[in-house]
Amino acid sequence: MEKTTTLFLLFSTLLLTTSLAKDLCHKDDKNTLLKIKKSLNNPYHLASWDPETDCCSWYSIECGDASVNHRVTSLYIEYGKFSGQIPPEVGDLPFLKYLAFHKLPNLTGHIQPTIAKLKNLTYLRLSWTSLTGPIPEFLSQLENLEIINLSFNNLTGSIPSSLSSLQKLEYIDLSRNKLTGPIPESFGSFSGRIPNLLLSHNQLSGSIPKSLGKLDFDQIDFSRNKLQGDASILFGTSKRAWSNIDISRNKFQFDLSKVMLTKTVGRLDLNHNGITGNIPVQWTKSDIYSLNVSYNRLCGRIPQGGDLQKFDSYSYFHNKCLFGAPLPTSK
Ligand SMILES: *[C@@H]1O[C@H](CO)[C@@H](O)[C@H](O)[C@H]1NC(C)=O
Ligand SMILES: *[C@@H]1O[C@H](CO)[C@@H](O)[C@H](O)[C@H]1NC(C)=O
Ligand SMILES: *[C@@H]1O[C@H](CO)[C@@H](O)[C@H](O)[C@H]1NC(C)=O
Ligand SMILES: *[C@@H]1O[C@H](CO)[C@@H](O)[C@H](O)[C@H]1NC(C)=O
Ligand SMILES: *[C@@H]1O[C@H](CO)[C@@H](O)[C@H](O)[C@H]1NC(C)=O
Repeated sequence: MEKTTTLFLLFSTLLLTTSLAKDLCHKDDKNTLLKIKKSLNNPYHLASWDPETDCCSWYSIECGDASVNHRVTSLYIEYGKFSGQIPPEVGDLPFLKYLAFHKLPNLTGHIQPTIAKLKNLTYLRLSWTSLTGPIPEFLSQLENLEIINLSFNNLTGSIPSSLSSLQKLEYIDLSRNKLTGPIPESFGSFSGRIPNLLLSHNQLSGSIPKSLGKLDFDQIDFSRNKLQGDASILFGTSKRAWSNIDISRNKFQFDLSKVMLTKTVGRLDLNHNGITGNIPVQWTKSDIYSLNVSYNRLCGRIPQGGDLQKFDSYSYFHNKCLFGAPLPTSK
């Protein structure tokens, strides 16, 4: 009898201490997460979100260390069967640094306005959803943002020019939406570092602001929009090595003859525009990793040398009167 009691006591103390030691979750965060789960109609995907267990161990959740009292720092929900909107309670996780809703085709509505409260956010990813409406202005007040990824949604309206005030931005990925209007003039004056700009597969129009020519981008993807005018301001001998520029499938019209390249070019894709002139001999002096000038209105002989014969005819075909290897040698 006595033995069983001792054993029982020992066992329950053990259970108590382990469960106490394990529950690092802050009770406010746990309450908030349980509200989020309820807002999403208690999906099976979040079955591990059990109020009896430590929320820091739940699926899709990460907590910070003791220095931030184990507050929830990451909410990363992907590939679930949810429908409805982003729950407003996401704004009540004040220590959140990473927020993602990804590959949720039935996630609808606008970008949740309460996200504006998440001043510690460094990473925001809302991708492959059915979110609609505009890119909210409030993003520019989330001063710690480093990565904004709003690709593969149904967002409309124009790109807020205020995004350029974000000093820590490394990436802006707004590709594959239904954005209209111009690339903001302010994007030529990012006040901090110069982010990679990925704006492909939208309906952006107008010309590239002159101010962008002053910046030295690492990666630009403006492909598949309705941009026009002169894009040559993106190139030049003073630009950084290994830059990756894709302006294909737009309506750009400029003379390529005077466009000089930097010593090492990562990728240059100009296909499907209205670019005229010829390919400068100077291009034979650059190391070019990847090139595509097809479907333009170029003329003249492709200069011999450098990397220019490394590419096959598909990099050069469908121009007005371009000739020379790898294309047929006369026109
Ligand atoms: C999205 O909703 C449709 C229609 O209600 C349903 O057939 C489909 O299975 C849902 N998909 C996901 C991934 O939730
Ligand atoms: C952000 O994090 C700091 C500590 O890192 C904390 O003091 C603050 O309350 C957090 N939340 C907001 C909304 O600033
Ligand atoms: C989003 O856009 C796709 C492709 O244009 C369309 O099939 C889908 O119905 C749209 N979804 C919403 C919620 O508007
Ligand atoms: C943004 O998300 C898309 C879609 O999943 C992905 O392909 C892309 O690489 C992401 N962009 C960045 C900058 O991480
Ligand atoms: C260049 O672009 C054209 C048009 O999109 C495409 O058909 C061709 O395969 C591309 N060339 C290379 C080498 O990728």
